Amino acid sequence: MNVCFLDLRSMHEEIADEIQEVWSRICAQCSFVGAEYVGQFEQQWADYCGTAYCVGVADGTVGLELSLRALGIRPGDEVIVPGNTFIATAEAVVKAGGVPVFIDVDPATHLITADGVAAAITPRTAAVVVVHLYGQPADMDAIRAVAIKAGIAVVEDAAQAHGATWQGKRVGGLSDIASFSFYPGKNLGAFGDAGAVVTNDPALAERVRLMSNHGRPPNSPHLHELVGGTHRLDALQAAILTVKLKRLDAWNAARERAARLYAQALAGLPVELVQVADEATSSHHLTVIRTSHRDELRRLLAAENVATGIHYPIPCHLQKAFRGLNTPPLPMVERLAGRILSLPMFPHISEAQIRHVADAIARAFDRLGRSGVGVAVEPHDPSPAAAR
Ligand SMILES: Cc1ncc(COP(=O)(O)O)c(C=O)c1O
Repeated sequence: MNVCFLDLRSMHEEIADEIQEVWSRICAQCSFVGAEYVGQFEQQWADYCGTAYCVGVADGTVGLELSLRALGIRPGDEVIVPGNTFIATAEAVVKAGGVPVFIDVDPATHLITADGVAAAITPRTAAVVVVHLYGQPADMDAIRAVAIKAGIAVVEDAAQAHGATWQGKRVGGLSDIASFSFYPGKNLGAFGDAGAVVTNDPALAERVRLMSNHGRPPNSPHLHELVGGTHRLDALQAAILTVKLKRLDAWNAARERAARLYAQALAGLPVELVQVADEATSSHHLTVIRTSHRDELRRLLAAENVATGIHYPIPCHLQKAFRGLNTPPLPMVERLAGRILSLPMFPHISEAQIRHVADAIARAFDRLGRSGVGVAVEPHDPSPAAAR
């Protein structure tokens, strides 16, 4: 049996006819930028997230950048971000003129905590970007409380968490402003790059909309109120997202079922699953396990035709692009980077495929030896020198 990491084909087969229909309609209209489909998707995505406003943008990275710029980040302002996110979170801070301040994460959830945020706040801190990593929301109540007290803004990077909830409320509406990515592999994925910003603040929404379109107010092609760029969501992507949005809840429910099957099938094996908080539901974008034998396990799984990923093997602060910031060690982030492994996860994964992955993991540990695996992550373990 072959288990790919992500099967986009099965998702596409479900919607192929509807996609053909909208594609033909847009080609007949020849309106490829803006127009009906963009407005329609923006309304639907705002409704889905429970926010008052949505602005479609070109991708999730620019969505974060424009969110930070809309908040008024000034050159040199510090913005707190997790050390174990996709590099885009930190890139957006720099593009907006800010300085990323990387912080450590909780060993069980791999997410930033309110205490971690509080400890990183300085007089120069302007915002925190909370990343709902792997699809599981961070503790937004506690983080917001710290942020409100300190007078800093909260941005959600919800690129991996479409439809995930905290205390029953969908991510996106849990902060001042949030950015989503619709990169093809995301839970809601376009046929190329696409993204959206959601907020309940009309002034923030207005600024993001202006900046996404060269500073032009709606219906004023020759007025430029501020410096923006070509950062719009295009009509074809919006139409495709409108078709796929109807499936999102069903596809997320299928991921949830798959996650439960994984939890059952992996029970008793010397691997640990990332913990989802009781207050949260995850969108199960990724299924991540921890093991001290990550690289050997990955090789043995590949030999059994099980594809895996690592999100992310090199923490942001150790990347060449950010080494100049001289971030102090982030022990947990650095330790996790050497232990995490993402297993195949997609809505159409079958029970047989999940069993095959779990059996392959069991066979791998029979070869690796189960004794002394010691996968528990102790908070005060020294970070691996090799990672630096
Ligand atoms: C956590 C996170 N933030 C930001 C992004 C950036 O999104 P995009 O690729 O649409 O620019 C991604 C996409 O992979 C992501 O996973």
